[in-house]
Amino acid sequence: MTTILALETSCDETAAAVVDDGRTVRSSIVSSQVDLHARFGGVVPEIASRAHVELIGPVIADALGEAAIELTDVDAVAACHGPGLAGALLVGVSAGKALALVAGVPYVGVNHLEAHLYAAWLDEPDLEPPLAVLIASGGHTLLVIVGESSDETVVARERHRVVGQTVDDAAGEAFDKVARFLGLGYPGGPAIDLLAHEGDPEAIAFPRAMPGERDFSFSGLKTAVVNHVQRNPDAAVADVAASFQAAVVDQLAGKLAAAADAAGATALVLGGGVAANSALRARVAADAGASGRRAFLPPPSLCTDNAAMIGAAAWWRLRADGPTPLDAGVDPVLGLT
Ligand code: KG4
Ligand code: ZN
Repeated sequence: MTTILALETSCDETAAAVVDDGRTVRSSIVSSQVDLHARFGGVVPEIASRAHVELIGPVIADALGEAAIELTDVDAVAACHGPGLAGALLVGVSAGKALALVAGVPYVGVNHLEAHLYAAWLDEPDLEPPLAVLIASGGHTLLVIVGESSDETVVARERHRVVGQTVDDAAGEAFDKVARFLGLGYPGGPAIDLLAHEGDPEAIAFPRAMPGERDFSFSGLKTAVVNHVQRNPDAAVADVAASFQAAVVDQLAGKLAAAADAAGATALVLGGGVAANSALRARVAADAGASGRRAFLPPPSLCTDNAAMIGAAAWWRLRADGPTPLDAGVDPVLGLT
């Protein structure tokens, strides 16, 4: 058995987890800084870095304590090394390297996006590839086919293929920007989700961008919302929220289903903060039912940023590539290929 202590500090969550063999979560501690950033309407990088410095020690202690192990019981230490905010990433990576050095075990640098993909297996170890996965968060919107080979020995890198991504804003970013415009606060996704329950999703026919293509676009939709509200100042905010959400969900779920059809995927999988959206979850569940597939909608705790997913991806990475050198840095713009 390989026990990995994993750290995640790419944005505004300070997280540590202990994961066995990439699948069994023994502890997962997430300290959100959302209250620190709310009054600025978004994440302030310098505030995030400073908060990570203060929180990382206690969060690691909690993760080890909840798993009832000591640092000496750990077989490897992993940290998210990108993409994300440079100063924030450096806190987790520096802590991870230091702990690996002290414990005399390998350090593993993990791609945050790859980690979102592996989160699926944490809750559902029996998922049968290939899977069509949509990762939609404040920073990313990616459509990925995972595990086209069912051979467990195939290296992690070869187990996924990106088939679509956003050409402008990320889905969560669109929720946050529209919520801010509508005066609903930060983070915007949960606020729109809540208000949309009181509105009519068909009240306003907002555009569905790039039909027939796998890539996503949300900036035209955002502009359409602004234009509509400026032209119709008396429009019910709940109707605007519901109609905007319907347009986002239609685009996300429609492309996910199309990609699943093309790849012969067995299941539809959601990840990232936007996967907490109730309308998106309902639509993906319905699409899966209609096409005889499984829908895997992980609990929000696994969808939003956490360190358990870093531990899951680290286990695959360690098997595929071995340890990451201690002189490796961070990569704020690391992609998924
Ligand atoms: O994955 P995440 O926690 O952090 C990163 O961005 O990496 O995602 C946060 C994003 C925010 O944009 C937030 O507004 C959005 O996820 N979000 C939602 C919901 N809950 C969170 N968007 C729509 N509906 C929700 N219920
Ligand atoms: Zn994320």
